[in-house]
Amino acid sequence: MTSVHDTSAPAQAYLDPGLPVAERVADLLARMSVAEKVGQMLQLDARGDYEGDILRKHVGSILHTSPHRVGLAHDLVEQTRLRIPLLVGEDCIHGHSFFEGATIFPTQLGMAATWDPALVEQAARITAVEASATGVHWTFSPVLCIARDLRWGRVDETFGEDPYLIGELASAMVRGYQGSGLSDPTAILATAKHFAGYSETQGGRDASEADISRRKLRSWFLPPFERVAKEGCATFMLGYQSMDGVPITINDWLLNDVLRGEWGYTGTLITDWDNVGRMVWEQKVQPDHAHAAAAAVRAGNDMVMTTPQFFEGAQEAIDQGLLAESDLDRAVARILTLKFELGLFENPRRPTLDRDAALIGSAAHAAVNLDVARRSLVLLRNTDAALPFAGGFTGVDDGGRAAGPADDRPRRIAVVGPLADAAQAQLGDWAGSSGQADWLPDGHPRDMITTVLDGLRTLTPQDWTVTSALGAEIVTLVSPPEGDTLPDGQPRPKIAVPRDPDPELIAEAVAQAQAADHVVAVVGDQVELVGEYKSTATLELVGGQVALLDALAATGTPMVVVVMASKPLVLPESVLNAAAVIWTANPGMEGGRAVAELLLGLVEPSGRLPISFARHVGQQPVYYNQIRGQHGSRYADLTQEPAFVFGQGLSYSTVEYSDLTVRDAELGPDDTVRARVTLTNTGTRPARETVQVYVSDTVTSVSWTDKELKAYRQVDVAAGRSVEVELDLPVADCTIVNSAGDRVVEPGGFELLVGSSSRDADLLRAPFTVVGTPALVSGPGSV
Ligand code: NOJ
Repeated sequence: MTSVHDTSAPAQAYLDPGLPVAERVADLLARMSVAEKVGQMLQLDARGDYEGDILRKHVGSILHTSPHRVGLAHDLVEQTRLRIPLLVGEDCIHGHSFFEGATIFPTQLGMAATWDPALVEQAARITAVEASATGVHWTFSPVLCIARDLRWGRVDETFGEDPYLIGELASAMVRGYQGSGLSDPTAILATAKHFAGYSETQGGRDASEADISRRKLRSWFLPPFERVAKEGCATFMLGYQSMDGVPITINDWLLNDVLRGEWGYTGTLITDWDNVGRMVWEQKVQPDHAHAAAAAVRAGNDMVMTTPQFFEGAQEAIDQGLLAESDLDRAVARILTLKFELGLFENPRRPTLDRDAALIGSAAHAAVNLDVARRSLVLLRNTDAALPFAGGFTGVDDGGRAAGPADDRPRRIAVVGPLADAAQAQLGDWAGSSGQADWLPDGHPRDMITTVLDGLRTLTPQDWTVTSALGAEIVTLVSPPEGDTLPDGQPRPKIAVPRDPDPELIAEAVAQAQAADHVVAVVGDQVELVGEYKSTATLELVGGQVALLDALAATGTPMVVVVMASKPLVLPESVLNAAAVIWTANPGMEGGRAVAELLLGLVEPSGRLPISFARHVGQQPVYYNQIRGQHGSRYADLTQEPAFVFGQGLSYSTVEYSDLTVRDAELGPDDTVRARVTLTNTGTRPARETVQVYVSDTVTSVSWTDKELKAYRQVDVAAGRSVEVELDLPVADCTIVNSAGDRVVEPGGFELLVGSSSRDADLLRAPFTVVGTPALVSGPGSV
């Protein structure tokens, strides 16, 4: 078909922006050789021979492209026969991770502690604005995996343990990245990953086979993915692992029956790193790259991440009759469609730094980042009003220091611990020097990062004294005995060996603590213990940290422990009995200021745990929504109760819940549960309360959990005031997944549970009954 309306239209129809996308795709496909089609399906690592990859392998996409290389890569495309623009992908996971001086937010788990979708959407929008200005089109974020075994190295990348909260926050993040649509030049493609079940590890070991039934997947693992698939998340990344023996990369049921079929997903699928090659060298379910490539194409993968051998493998597969050339067309057409929809043929969206450099890491973005960091802090313990210091300040003076009606006795604060002033470590994984990018060996600019020590030095009144001591070290790194390189050529992570307690470091910290009014101990983990290939066998504080904390506790000086840990850790008695405990995850560039503000009472604590903290590593897993029916509720030698539960978090005030009422005691499947509860702030400071709404289905046709989060509202309650909060919940949300895999509302008795955490003691209960016949909401029975 040709364009007849415009005589100045380019000779090649695919270059004519006036034509419908489908027509342009068809025209271009017809011009492409087999090699060009195979190349179009490849995304290769731009840290390698990107020139060869673009000119000879015709790659459709690159990732991990240093800022310098992005422009060169586009120049190379100009030399190719068809000049098909590149898709530039990057892991902008909590900010534009690998662009020096970009805004680095708290990790995804930290953001989850805000429980605030609007704030998370804002963070993602800022990330998109910064990333798009540097020529990135595609971020591999958000992670929708459910955190289960806390030993897993990637817990920090998740939104925690609850499918509803994950869905709320992931949906917000996708909206933030994709902006007002793909034609928006500041939009970047979002990626829902890692589809699906990747977090159901064996013993926390990364990418181990997920032993998980289809019904369990449908019950808890798939709902957040289904939501963003239906809301238009542009791409999905497929997990590394196998389930029931089948790698996700070729899992026909998951990819075709469920994702494409039941959910009607039309977006683009990308494998994870060398998933296709791993079927040969790691999982050993394919004899060679030709077979692996054929299987991956037939299963419906569109883009193959970093399996360079796919280029030859897919062509060999065609020569051997394992694949027909036309089998490539569906995937290539989808990638080309994405490129046309982004308008890349007209404007490849090169970096716009000459125009937009000032946006990156701007003061306005830092202000939002500070807000996210403040809201991500979870106060877990506060005894004898240990916090805020000096009763709390109300503002800052002209010099930016805390001021106000706090008592005016000058204080001395000892800020100790290996993470009190560890700027790069504070940023966590996927940031600067965390190891994935070789062009940022020193990480992000030090002056953009505020540590806890910086924050306290900057914000405490002029006449206060702040001292500091390292106190302990965490790990030292040694080369792995298997060698420094993995079979696919990637560097093998070094082994983290715990440091011994150092008596001199401890003595120095103890001396400072003895001389101080307050100790602030900042402890936790660091990136060597976090991430891919870096699951941990234990959850304890590593290195000299426990010895340090024990010694500090023995001084008797009131101690505030700031647990700057990527994931929940098992905390020793010295922490559990400390005057106050705050969990910060990895709080990003503004984290130290946010912590200091909290300590001084300049902001109120409002974060809530998106994930439970175990008391002992052997309690795994400790997520709150376990299936009922086991014998008893404790181990012979230990309770099963976690140390801190999902939803938990204190304010500087106390909020009481009363008078939970459900308006209609009997409801049909299409009705809405309408409830009210009264919140009373019985303290002297304002509180932002997260009112959590759980549902318990009294009797279910199959075993189910005792309670599930179904809704929540964040409500500000002024000191001494009461507010009535209205809560509406569609009965259609009160579902279980039955033995056929269908999500249904089963008639019968239910309870609405409303309160401040998932712990039974924190919840008021009100019954209601659903009448009628079982109502199908989704699942195989609905298609
Ligand atoms: C592997 C990780 O599993 C994935 O999350 C990431 O997006 C890719 N590598 C690209 O870096």
